[in-house]
Amino acid sequence: MTQPSVPPSISTWRADHIGAIAPSAQNTIPLIDPADVHPILPGIDLWDLWPLQNADGSTTLFNGASLWFVLCAPALPDPEARHDIVRIRLMTHAADSTWRDHGHALPDGFNPGSREWAGSALWHPEAGDVTLFYTVAGYPGEEARSFAQRLFQTTGKLNTDDFTITGWSAPHENIIADNVHYTLVNQREGAPGFIKGFRDPAHFRDPKDGATYIVFTGSLKASTHAFNGCIGIARATNDALTEWQILPPILSADGLNNEQERPLLIHRGGHYYLFWSTQRKVFAPDGPSGPNGVYGAVADDVLGPWRPLNGTGLVAANPDDAPFQTYSWWVDADLDVWGFIDYPACTAETKVDDPAWRRAHFGGTPAPTFRIALDGDRAWVDQAGAEGQ
Ligand code: FRU
Repeated sequence: MTQPSVPPSISTWRADHIGAIAPSAQNTIPLIDPADVHPILPGIDLWDLWPLQNADGSTTLFNGASLWFVLCAPALPDPEARHDIVRIRLMTHAADSTWRDHGHALPDGFNPGSREWAGSALWHPEAGDVTLFYTVAGYPGEEARSFAQRLFQTTGKLNTDDFTITGWSAPHENIIADNVHYTLVNQREGAPGFIKGFRDPAHFRDPKDGATYIVFTGSLKASTHAFNGCIGIARATNDALTEWQILPPILSADGLNNEQERPLLIHRGGHYYLFWSTQRKVFAPDGPSGPNGVYGAVADDVLGPWRPLNGTGLVAANPDDAPFQTYSWWVDADLDVWGFIDYPACTAETKVDDPAWRRAHFGGTPAPTFRIALDGDRAWVDQAGAEGQ
């Protein structure tokens, strides 16, 4: 494999560059009527989801059906407690848009942590294997739940009759925070609720030279600011994609935003696109803030320099009337965007800080997809492309 080139200086998503982030109608996700929200697995909350992908980034299809990895937890009295017990689930999405459940992706007792968080999955068609890149949160048996986050991969064999995956290899910790560019401290810091990141690995093969990368949510080591999110990257150093070299981040939001969650890369129209999810509450209070939404950047090379799309980075925001409607999006190769229903039909004023309220109002199920359109440095919601789920 070719050696990584030295990345240019880290690109920035910065307060002094972007000014206010105010979504236009073109960058607003269609409003969802809560009456149309029907949990696909009653009794189980579902949130972050990502498909099995081919190496070129397209979604793998089996007779028109796609296989999805979905974070899940039994519906707890407080849905916000779900992050503490989460497992990854397998579900198929058929051509007629119906979902089928295939149970937990990984065996019980397999996780080298206390819960399984988000990642991505790669199909190896010759072997019939699936590699899952995912986040291990916490440690097994820990007394107090920790927010340690570690990146792992495991490979198993897919049975395409019942969509189970068996024979998972021992989880391999593949990319380790270097304490140079990325903080080792992944616990809560600063204001309550703000956790540091080393999570959400997404694979990407560069069509230019065939090199494979993983991007992930990180936190800048060198920063002195409480809001120091970044998007990290590592490059495979072997063809088996088991060994990775960690590189400096490709995007820093130092001083602007604490968490660029679930980053992913897409190559389209000769450009590289980087997408991530973030929320208003993780923008630094002393700078510009933006809505809960899908954000992105564009570059001519995978290692940058990256420019925020539309100048501000905002691609698709929840509607003003429903700022918590959906969250945590996956942009697929066709530019369909898959998120989950969070708290539809409430605003910051009508949202109530109470577990019973949250239980009654949490969506916890995949959202209707919408489609985005891209043209160079511009991105918008393709209103005509909105589909059902
Ligand atoms: C986004 C997220 C991810 C994380 C998961 C944990 O909703 O915070 O960054 O992997 O949820 O539940």
